[in-house]
Amino acid sequence: MIPLSVPNINGNEWQYVKDCLDTGWVSSAGAYVNKFEEAIQNYTGAKYAIACMNGTAGLQVSLNLARVSSNDIVIAPNLTFVATLNSISYSGAEIVLIDVCEDSWQIEVDLLQKWLENNTTTRLVDDKPVTFEKLTGKKIGAIMPVYVLGGFLDVYKLVEICSSYGIPLIEDSTEALGSFKKGKHAGTFGLTGVLSFNGNKIISTGGGGMILTNDKQIAVRAKHITTTAKTDPINYFHDEVGYNYRLVNVLAAIGVAQMENFESILKRKKEIDALYRKELDGIGDIIFQQNDPNSDPNCWLFTFRTKKMRALLNHLNNNKIQSRPFWTPMNNLPMYKNLRYINDNNISNKIFKDCISIPSSSNLIISDQHKVISEIKNFYK
Ligand SMILES: Cc1ncc(COP(=O)(O)O)c(C=O)c1O
Repeated sequence: MIPLSVPNINGNEWQYVKDCLDTGWVSSAGAYVNKFEEAIQNYTGAKYAIACMNGTAGLQVSLNLARVSSNDIVIAPNLTFVATLNSISYSGAEIVLIDVCEDSWQIEVDLLQKWLENNTTTRLVDDKPVTFEKLTGKKIGAIMPVYVLGGFLDVYKLVEICSSYGIPLIEDSTEALGSFKKGKHAGTFGLTGVLSFNGNKIISTGGGGMILTNDKQIAVRAKHITTTAKTDPINYFHDEVGYNYRLVNVLAAIGVAQMENFESILKRKKEIDALYRKELDGIGDIIFQQNDPNSDPNCWLFTFRTKKMRALLNHLNNNKIQSRPFWTPMNNLPMYKNLRYINDNNISNKIFKDCISIPSSSNLIISDQHKVISEIKNFYK
């Protein structure tokens, strides 16, 4: 089977993990956590990077950092991986879904703006704008857009909207390590951005996450509450309900080694993407995801639209080419089907019905990629 998206472990991972095992520094303290945070900080340009257990935990903590409560509303896209919504559910806030764009598959920022204009009112609280929904009186506690497949949303416009309405922006950039727009890394535009190092991501620590922020107070609190909110190195005194969401040293060690190879991993991802785009352009009814021309996405997982998605999926899987459909939209899942959903044409559901992801691991060998391409061409003959 040619796998869809698997880790690429061919650097110092063994050596650094062995170092942890040899020295006994396997758990919640040790030098690799700091080193991994520094590597991500340097690469992304975020002023602070705080490692945590996984991306979902990073998003959950981010909502706490934004002081989102169960009386608030958090707006999130209908087309995302379920963890985005789960992280909001943990806060107890009401989730309001929003549709995505037909071409980029990213959050529809104009639709969001229109909804805010028509449905909310903004007041100054302690000299800062705060926005409330007219219907329920609830505060808009945060907006959590997703960088779908590492591509860029209209983030500059979103930042403008968030700052004029006083709404914290929490970027689900879990898929976007290596994605830049005008030199600025995904996840560094809002209050926080979150990365994931899950097994299928562009780099992996097995499981892991990182909270990015440019705000020192937020960074200090992020570290504090992800490490049980302990105030003293010796005494067991904790000043709030914290989380045990640390990334352990042995996993951070893998992350350090992965980051040492990141440029070559990213380069391979872009080559894979370019070859698929060249070879599959004009084949059958294939439509590619459109990328913002001012952005430099990480090309994490090659995904395209076709009306024959189900048949192609079966054809590829039957030919030992691992392929997957897109995420079921959130409003089709039992626990989220009754959420309010801002949309004109329910684009998310159209995209979901058509999308298929194909092998894109950074260690995909060229002959295997040509096999994928020729099976797709055979299918449409
Ligand atoms: C869009 C999105 N959000 C959140 C997550 C959660 O990240 P993690 O698996 O590290 O918890 C993922 C990845 O798994 C994701 O793709």
